[in-house]
Amino acid sequence: MSNLLLLLLCLSSFLPSHPQVQAATLPSDIYALKALKASIKPNSISPWSCLGSWNFSFDPCSLPRRTYFICGISCSPDSTRVTSLTLDPVGYSGTLTPLLSQLTQLTQLDLSDNSFYGPIPSSLSSLSKLETLSLRSNSFSGNIPPSLTKLASLVSLDISSNALTGPLPVTLSSLSSLTTMDLSFNKLTGSLPRLPPNLVELALKANSLSGSLSQSLFEGITQLEVVELGANRFTGAVQAWFFLIPSLQQVDLANNSFTRIEIQKSGNVKNSQLVAVDLGFNRIKGYLPVNLASFPQMASLSLRYNRFRGPIPWEFYKKASDQSLRRLFLDGNFLNGKPPAGFFSGGSGSSVAGSFGDNCLESCPASSQLCSSSQKPTSVCRQAYGGSTSP
Ligand SMILES: *[C@@H]1O[C@H](CO)[C@@H](O)[C@H](O)[C@H]1NC(C)=O
Ligand SMILES: *[C@@H]1O[C@H](CO)[C@@H](O)[C@H](O)[C@H]1NC(C)=O
Repeated sequence: MSNLLLLLLCLSSFLPSHPQVQAATLPSDIYALKALKASIKPNSISPWSCLGSWNFSFDPCSLPRRTYFICGISCSPDSTRVTSLTLDPVGYSGTLTPLLSQLTQLTQLDLSDNSFYGPIPSSLSSLSKLETLSLRSNSFSGNIPPSLTKLASLVSLDISSNALTGPLPVTLSSLSSLTTMDLSFNKLTGSLPRLPPNLVELALKANSLSGSLSQSLFEGITQLEVVELGANRFTGAVQAWFFLIPSLQQVDLANNSFTRIEIQKSGNVKNSQLVAVDLGFNRIKGYLPVNLASFPQMASLSLRYNRFRGPIPWEFYKKASDQSLRRLFLDGNFLNGKPPAGFFSGGSGSSVAGSFGDNCLESCPASSQLCSSSQKPTSVCRQAYGGSTSP
């Protein structure tokens, strides 16, 4: 290295060419962070946790943060604003302060896997930059504040595994950026409102939602891939338009009170991505919906524990022998007749996993795992078929 270069390097470390302006966190952001920590029970804040390192004798966003504010927040590049609040899952217990709404540059708020309780503050609706809101696995109760549907930047919303009650906000569809919504494992009631138009994943499992799946609620939805509505109280028919939502891949409607599947023969399944359908544990009557076998990617189908009658269609066997269908659960219905023999022949159609047990089938060989659980007693089947076991 030349002496000149060395000299320049030495000089530059004394010259104020990059003045170290010590930017400080906006007072209202500090105020909000203080309020957050103050609302959490001190005995749930261990010294080695993120919140344990928050010492307000120091500026939260100023760098370096080696001893204080070592985790839990991220700040803007100029160290003036808090942009993300992600607490560690160590069991923080307390209510959530409405003053968090002052963190107006926040894009991410993640308090999942803690013990927060009480209401979700409706003031969070002022976080207009918020993209991710995760309050998963806490004990939040009360309604979902309708004002949250003003969060126009929100992409991902996860408030699963809490104790939320009441209905979904009627204005839910105004969450125009939302792609992932998980409100599973709460105590939500009422019917589905119109859904956000850009949803990719919808999970509302294990609530007490009711009403039917009407097409108008899914209007304009074209990117929906995953629908998990299992373990609710939905009723009525599941109609063809639902299975034909473009891009739909996985459907869980199990453990509801659906009574019909209406899926006529339809030409436009060719581009369908539908892979898995679970309609088990409902109250669906009629013959098996043979047209579900016409979906080209269909790999897993559960229609178990319903009130289906009639034979197992040959089309289901065909789908299994084509190596498309890998799982087929039809147990717990009133199916009768002889299942297609190919299911038991040792060929490609017999590698499907599943069950045909607890039906009214004739010649379901116990040597096949599909038939390993037994059929219903003849008396039950006679009664179901009005005296005869034939349709
Ligand atoms: C915060 O830091 C100051 C200065 O080092 C110290 O005196 C004080 O005890 C700290 N407070 C907490 C709560 O750790
Ligand atoms: C449905 O209910 C059954 C029996 O209560 C349970 O074993 C199963 O896990 C439930 N399935 C879903 C998808 O909720």
